Amino acid sequence: MVRLSAFAVCLVELLVHASSYCTAFDDAGCSGQSVVRDSSIWKAAPDKYDQPGGPEGLTTMTQLNNIIMGHAATQIILAGSQLGLFEFLHENGPQTKGTIEEALGLKRSDGSTRPIEVLLLGSTSIGLTVLDKREKTYRNCEIIDRLFTTGGWRSIADLIDLEAIIKYKGEFHFVESLRKDTNVGLQEWPGAADNLYSRLPQTPGAQKIFYDLMNSFTAFSIPCLSNTSKVAATSFKLLDVGGGAAVAAIHLAKKFQQLSITLWDQHETIEIPMNHITKAGLKGRISLLAGSFITDPFPEAGSHDAVLLSHQAVIWSKSVLLMIFKLLVRMCHIRLDYNGCTLFQTVCV
Ligand SMILES: C[S@@+](CC[C@H](N)C(=O)[O-])C[C@H]1O[C@@H](n2cnc3c(N)ncnc32)[C@H](O)[C@@H]1O
Repeated sequence: MVRLSAFAVCLVELLVHASSYCTAFDDAGCSGQSVVRDSSIWKAAPDKYDQPGGPEGLTTMTQLNNIIMGHAATQIILAGSQLGLFEFLHENGPQTKGTIEEALGLKRSDGSTRPIEVLLLGSTSIGLTVLDKREKTYRNCEIIDRLFTTGGWRSIADLIDLEAIIKYKGEFHFVESLRKDTNVGLQEWPGAADNLYSRLPQTPGAQKIFYDLMNSFTAFSIPCLSNTSKVAATSFKLLDVGGGAAVAAIHLAKKFQQLSITLWDQHETIEIPMNHITKAGLKGRISLLAGSFITDPFPEAGSHDAVLLSHQAVIWSKSVLLMIFKLLVRMCHIRLDYNGCTLFQTVCV
């Protein structure tokens, strides 16, 4: 869980900074969840060091309270997203409580207006919606409306789902995780595997939430790599370690016609890239290797001339990363392809 939190921090940073790195946002290659039409939205985000409280720390009880009540805020934004509150207000402009209640399906036969009142009180008190007291209407806050207009909302909705549904469950065990230096929150997920990826398939819908977000994220980041990577442009046989849904592999195969790619991912998840690769008509150029890069042997030395680690560095502990890098060095002579765009994406030959 701690590692997934680090991953989310990186994701938000990438979403915020992506526009300064990438030149082609809609150059995603395949199943990214959304196409951002106006990337300036990310530039408008405040710098991460520019938060209320700043380097001096928090100064007011309200700021402190916002942290203590953070769990409620997460669930309020999830409710607004999943019940369609933000989408409805974006499409219809300011609306009264009664109209919103009807549109969101929260109208009750016993006449209770409590559900819609709780939702609107929550969303308005944390600034997601704004109440016009004179007209008695609610509208979206500015940033949410701009996300809809610029095409960025889908990615944010995917992020909300991952945080509020998947990661939320394990957070309860955070203190114990720190005490024991292990992922105690895993016990929230059925299964015997020692990692969340392998347990997600056993909970209906959970794996889709993870990959929807992952695909949105990778659809943002992979054009950065492909636009600047000399390694990707000059290699022939690339090993995509933990290649996920094949968003990166499909993008690279389409862009670099000389590339053949082996996508290596766990047995439990290998069906996901298989479907995407088939749909993209790239079965002849992207092959699949089912197994674990932690417990299974690495491909033979010389079998590949490049390795892609996309969004792996952010999820593993130093010791696991060191082990992976040692095995990669044995497989091929490492030359890191590293710049602003490839912060989380290293390629070696
Ligand atoms: C954060 S995702 C990154 C997916 C993909 N590289 C991307 O950038 O979209 C991590 C991926 O690593 C895979 N993975 C995790 N542990 C693995 C292991 N031991 N062996 C193979 N794949 C693994 C997961 O199944 C998941 O698809």
